[in-house]
Amino acid sequence: MDEKLRIEQLRKELHEHNYRYYVLNQPTIGDQDFDLMMKELQDLEAKHPELYDANSPSQRVGSDLQSGFQQVTHRYPMLSLANTYSEADVRDWYESVKKGLAGEDFEVCCEMKYDGLSISLTYEKGRLTQAVTRGDGVHGDDVTANVKTIHSIPLILPGTGYPDEFEIRGEILMPWSSFERLNKERETAEEPLFANPRNAASGTLKSLDSRVVAQRQLDAYLYYLLGEQLPADGHYENLEAAASWGFKISQGMRKVRTVDEVMDFINYWDKERKNLPVATDGIVLKVNSLNQQRSLGYTAKSPRWAIAYKFKAEREATRLLEVTYQVGRTGAVTPVANMEPVQLAGTTVKRATLNNEDFIRSFDLHIGDMVYVEKGGEIIPKIVGVNIDERPIIAQQVQFIKKCPECGAPLVRYEGEAAWYCPNDAGCPPQIKGRIEHFIARKAMNIDSLGPETVDEYYRRGLIKNVADLYDIDVQQINGDGSRTKSAQRIVNGIQKSKEVPFERVVFALGIRFVGETTARLLARHFKTMDALMGAGLEELQEVEGVGEVMAKSIISYFHNEENLRIVNRLCNYGVQMQLSESQMMPASEKLAGQSIVISGVFQHHSRDEYKLLIEQNGGKNVGSISSKTSFILAGENMGPSKLEKAQKLGIRIMNEDDFLDLIK
Ligand code: IVH
Repeated sequence: MDEKLRIEQLRKELHEHNYRYYVLNQPTIGDQDFDLMMKELQDLEAKHPELYDANSPSQRVGSDLQSGFQQVTHRYPMLSLANTYSEADVRDWYESVKKGLAGEDFEVCCEMKYDGLSISLTYEKGRLTQAVTRGDGVHGDDVTANVKTIHSIPLILPGTGYPDEFEIRGEILMPWSSFERLNKERETAEEPLFANPRNAASGTLKSLDSRVVAQRQLDAYLYYLLGEQLPADGHYENLEAAASWGFKISQGMRKVRTVDEVMDFINYWDKERKNLPVATDGIVLKVNSLNQQRSLGYTAKSPRWAIAYKFKAEREATRLLEVTYQVGRTGAVTPVANMEPVQLAGTTVKRATLNNEDFIRSFDLHIGDMVYVEKGGEIIPKIVGVNIDERPIIAQQVQFIKKCPECGAPLVRYEGEAAWYCPNDAGCPPQIKGRIEHFIARKAMNIDSLGPETVDEYYRRGLIKNVADLYDIDVQQINGDGSRTKSAQRIVNGIQKSKEVPFERVVFALGIRFVGETTARLLARHFKTMDALMGAGLEELQEVEGVGEVMAKSIISYFHNEENLRIVNRLCNYGVQMQLSESQMMPASEKLAGQSIVISGVFQHHSRDEYKLLIEQNGGKNVGSISSKTSFILAGENMGPSKLEKAQKLGIRIMNEDDFLDLIK
């Protein structure tokens, strides 16, 4: 067969199989056959670049073409909905609609409120031409390349009868199953976990590499059709039509007339949503007729014809089996509830943090208690109550331990702190290992040839007792039995390479209590050398932004500890960076000399911290709040409204990223 025809045929068939699999859930061929067809198409397309089609099924695998996102102005602004939390609110809304329509009959369309991020898709002549995020509601990011990797979004509509041009809006979601898999992978790779599928979906969609998006398996449900020539006056009917064109629409969508039926729908899905593959956080109610929607109109922020009812956080009862205790790298002891496994908001829950002793007391927790666990927007569940009526007769009250579960040292509680600590920082294994793990972490010394398991092994074998020991180990020591020379060499190389890691990350890597990444950077820039930082007094330390008395005392106490001094000294002798690099010491220019600059909003080209550095390197000063002394505001997207107002009042210039970068070029 002619290769051009074969390409066309493969494209058509692959679109069809994709739709059957991802939208209808009724595949007719196996994965292997699908992959074979895709491979054939990709090979043929590579051979015939002149037959390129932006909407070919092969475009769904993503590409490594990196591009920042283009800003696009929405043709119709993307509004949000007013939220309600109670039956009374729903009834009030229903009454206000009734009044607004002066007694006319009306229908309400009830649908799921998906908890992802909203997207607006434009189709022209049945082809997806643009996908834009909500952004600030007026402008959004063009994320078309990433959206194309989402299989349930049709690139070319398989159905018929659609208008020449229309927009369809909906929610992009990461299904629970993909979310759990992703977080497991991140846990293994020691990367920070996503708190919930919404954050994961949003982080994924904003990735500049569409191959990452393709791997993460996002899904999409569409719930709002916009355009000049829509098929019907009913929102429900329009979505049904959209389903026939090839879109995945809200599950369980229903049209009702009375407010009691609305409440039945809400109550049904409040329980049933547990069985959905994606996160939902409420029900959206919309007046069905578009004509009636128009006559009800909008308030400043949201339509009067629609409302969101938010579910209460999911809560389940389960039995408390045991309280165990974890010792962190700072010695803080955290109690953990171990419970009978229970299904909660899409995942199985068997552990919950109990925070501290006071928290346990406040519930008068007993082993064997029926506890209520709740999951708000986060992955870590909380205990929110106890059902005392179900307490077993012989239940033992939970007593917070008095000794460290790891090393046996008596615990101490410092003034003003809720946590108990193991004070044996020099001899308590999880503290020692925790400090080493912190030291090697990506944001610290970035020794990625080592991981928690290797740290644990070397600690047990007596090779390392502190972070300085890392620089002493050699290939022979690691490679005790001689079987792993290659990997041992890789580990040693990784450790040696960390000597190039910049000073600010070294300060962070020391693991001084309360000193996070940002403060470490600010301390490094302020003091410039480890010697200066070590010699700094209470007042001097507090001159640094974000350093208060507690942190300053913690820094001083760290450098008063003999063991710590020995370690820092050894690190210095091994060649670890103990001062800012020359280029950091020297300002790049004096272009911003004498200027006070406020940074606000979210940026595309550099992170906020990088902008701070650029300001400093060009002789300027980054300040936190706007005053009459502010020279200008470096503003990204979504600058806070109060800042904007203040800037306008004081007549302070607002500069965008590009102009700023031009200025210091
Ligand atoms: S309709 C003008 N329907 O919830 C009405 N929104 O504040 C446009 N959402 O930003 C929205 N599920 O991202 C609509 N079935 C649904 C929805 C839904 C989730 C999101 C949407 C919007 C937010 C409401």
